[in-house]
Amino acid sequence: VNRTGIVAAMHPELAAVLAAMPDEQREPVATRDFWRGHWAGHEVVAVLSRVGKVAAATTATLLIERFQVDRIVFTGTAGGLGDGVRVGDVVVAGAFMQHDMDASPLFPRFEVPLTGCARFDTDPALSARLCSAAEAVLSRAEGTLGVDAVAEFALQSPRVHRGLIVSGDRFVATSAESAKLRQALPDALAVEMEGAAVAQVCRDFGVPFAALRTVSDRADDAAHVDFMRFIDQVASRYSVTILGAFFKS
Ligand code: ADE
Repeated sequence: VNRTGIVAAMHPELAAVLAAMPDEQREPVATRDFWRGHWAGHEVVAVLSRVGKVAAATTATLLIERFQVDRIVFTGTAGGLGDGVRVGDVVVAGAFMQHDMDASPLFPRFEVPLTGCARFDTDPALSARLCSAAEAVLSRAEGTLGVDAVAEFALQSPRVHRGLIVSGDRFVATSAESAKLRQALPDALAVEMEGAAVAQVCRDFGVPFAALRTVSDRADDAAHVDFMRFIDQVASRYSVTILGAFFKS
């Protein structure tokens, strides 16, 4: 039997997931609430990652060691970096890197010392399923979000991208910083603060991992969206609908 760990980055996303679970039971460990239950007939454990790489690594380790999940799916928001990665698009991670890891000159920039790698791939089969689920949901965005939300956030045929997501312990909120990231890691599609940590933990334990991020901003000076409203109206609805489709696939 598969037991899936579902990690949400923001509270409204976790709330939407819990609302879809008929039987969740709270189990507090290490100042976190883990929720055991079922979704679409699958055993799941849902939890908030908290923010940043350390919090995410701790959460992932507990899911694997204490809750014995045999795969992890992450859902959250990210800043768009790649050309054409727009607010309201979804990015499914093909791989993760830590953009703030730099032990040079002892090790090459970005390489996680003693692992021999800088790039941590997600599970191809799980990611392909997540991608198909996301494409199906985004193709009927108005049905999922409602016409008003699509108009409010000026979403124009939202797209699914698949590729590199970079993580670091910084909210990227200036054009200068996102330009630097784009220059250093030209194939990065999006930036967030947890995924690479979960990917590394999952690699250490040999646990398949997939991640989905709804683009909430362009990681620049312009605050295009009301972040909490966006999470509520767009990211949470995408995340619960896409994960629902994923479990049924
Ligand atoms: N999550 C959502 N937007 C982000 C940004 N601009 N930087 C880091 N994490 C994010």
